[in-house]
Amino acid sequence: MKTEILKELKGTDGYVSGQELCEKFGVSRTAVWKVINQLKEEGYDIEAVRNKGYRLASSGDLLSREEIVTSIRGQWAGRQVEYLQEVDSTNTRAKQMAESGAPHGLLVVAECQTMGKGRRGRSWVSPPGANIFMSLLLRPEIEPTDASMLTLVAAMAVTDGIRKVTGLETGIKWPNDVVIDGKKVCGILTEMSTEFERINYVVPGIGINVNQEEYPEEIRATATSLKLALGRTVKRSELIGCVMEAFERYYGIFLETMDLSGLMDEYNGMLVNKGREVRVLAPKNEYTGVSLGINRTGELLVRTEDGSVREVLSGEVSVRGIYGYV
Ligand code: BTN
Repeated sequence: MKTEILKELKGTDGYVSGQELCEKFGVSRTAVWKVINQLKEEGYDIEAVRNKGYRLASSGDLLSREEIVTSIRGQWAGRQVEYLQEVDSTNTRAKQMAESGAPHGLLVVAECQTMGKGRRGRSWVSPPGANIFMSLLLRPEIEPTDASMLTLVAAMAVTDGIRKVTGLETGIKWPNDVVIDGKKVCGILTEMSTEFERINYVVPGIGINVNQEEYPEEIRATATSLKLALGRTVKRSELIGCVMEAFERYYGIFLETMDLSGLMDEYNGMLVNKGREVRVLAPKNEYTGVSLGINRTGELLVRTEDGSVREVLSGEVSVRGIYGYV
């Protein structure tokens, strides 16, 4: 009932009368009052005025299960939410829940991670109070070899969500880093499980630097947060809601063709290194060229000096801009 009452308060500009809440949810005034007090204890600023009712003055940047659930507007992505104050890794948790039968669309969110995972075996520093750490459980009926495309779909969803919530010029550094002003604001790590050459589940894990105010010297030139770029705090729950909504939309388009044909123009429009000189760092072969954008399976097309176009597979190589991170 806490979720329903919070939803009601969030969806009303003025006051919601206690009587209205009692009738709507078939509970006593005392029960409503108790829920209001719980919400206040969690940090919601709720005004209570005699003969008028309750009004949500502000909820700051609180993150809680109810806060996330009431910010999700789509049909399936994030319809079930697991919220944890602390977890080793939201990806690990989502995979464990997947193994015990959790449904497509489950979203695991944590306030902080003690063993956040990055790509290439790196760790993802995940302190509490400022950022988003979340993993979405997907059970797509696609070939295992096609699953890497879902990481690009997730990068588009994050880019779209950030643009909507902040208006900041946000783009993608192929294949799936989301960047602002040439600095990384989001990383995505997708993990999957297969069985008899069929996908059991896929878990894209998303880390967004939202309200962090400082970065260590070593990464200050390459990492930033939305707050640093925007100059104000961003409501994480709202951003989670927008990213989930965008993910549903892009995922639907992806499923129509089971590849990126329907998304590649929009993806290429978001690509910050399109048309730029890049260095492709393959294990045994390093070369430079101009990035032309992705093809329908998400490979980066790079025109090399001799005029030939090479397809760069994500995961196999890393692409660096000639001038800095992007
Ligand atoms: C990268 O190296 O760029 C990918 C970072 C991915 C971090 C996110 S945070 C939520 C999810 N849980 C993890 O342990 N990792 C991903």
